[in-house]
Amino acid sequence: MLIVANWKSYVEKRDEAKKLLALSKRLSAKSRRTKIVLAPSFAHLGVLAPGNRSKVKFAAQDLSTTTVGPATGEVSGATLRNLGAEYVIIGHSERRAIGETDTVIAEKAKRAVANGLIPILCIGEKERDADAHYLLTLKKQLHAVFEPLAPRDRLRVIVAYEPVWAIGKHAGDALASSDLREMVLYIRKALSEYLPGKSAKVAPVIYGGSVEPSNIRGLAGGSDIDGFLVGHASVDPVPFAALVKALG
Ligand code: 13P
Repeated sequence: MLIVANWKSYVEKRDEAKKLLALSKRLSAKSRRTKIVLAPSFAHLGVLAPGNRSKVKFAAQDLSTTTVGPATGEVSGATLRNLGAEYVIIGHSERRAIGETDTVIAEKAKRAVANGLIPILCIGEKERDADAHYLLTLKKQLHAVFEPLAPRDRLRVIVAYEPVWAIGKHAGDALASSDLREMVLYIRKALSEYLPGKSAKVAPVIYGGSVEPSNIRGLAGGSDIDGFLVGHASVDPVPFAALVKALG
C-alpha cells in the first residue's frame, strides 16, 4: 500500500516538517506493507529530500511546464528530480480550481516522465448526478493525459481518484468503501483504452478525500485500491501514525 501525504500548504515551519519526516521514517521502518511518500511544499522539499537515504520517498505537489530558462517563479521537473523527488502530484483539484486545464496537466505529465518522475494524476468529479454523467468527467480527465503520452510512459502514471466533494471534510463525508470498489473497477476499465489489457487490470489507483484513521481500513478492505492520497490527516502526527499503522 502507498500512502502519499499531501501536506498542501498546511506546514509552514521547518521544524514541523522535519518532525513529520522523522515520524515517517520511524513508521516506515516498522511497516511491512506500507510505503510512505511525503509531498511537502517546494521549499520544504528542498530542506528534506536532498541526501534522503531512508525508505520514505518524496513527491512534489506540482511542477512547471517550463524547462530551464527565463521563467520566473516556476519550478521545473529537473529541479525537483535533482532535489530528490521521485513522484509529482499533477492535476490536483485545488490547482484545477485556479484555472489549470487538462491541456496544461497533460503537458505536466510529459514533463514529469521526461525527468524520471512518477506522475500522480488526480482526477475527480465536482459532484455526482443521478444519471452518472460524472463518470464522463473522469474519462475525459484520463483521456487528456493518457492519450498524448507514449505507451511506455503511460505505464508510469499512478491515478489518484479524488472526488472533489469529498476533499477536506471528515471520514463520514468520504466515499463509501463499496463505491470505491466500483470506481477502481471503472477507472481500470477506462484505462484499458490506453494500456495493454493486463496492465490496465493492475494499474495503480489510489484514493483521496477525507481519509482518516476511522475510515482507512474500511476503504482499503475489498476495494482493490493501491493506496491513499491524504491531506489534513497527514500533517498531524497522531492521525498520520494511526493511518500508517492501520494499513500494517
Ligand atoms: P483531505 O484528506 O484533507 O480530504 O485532502 C485530500 C486531498 O486533496 C489530498 O490530495
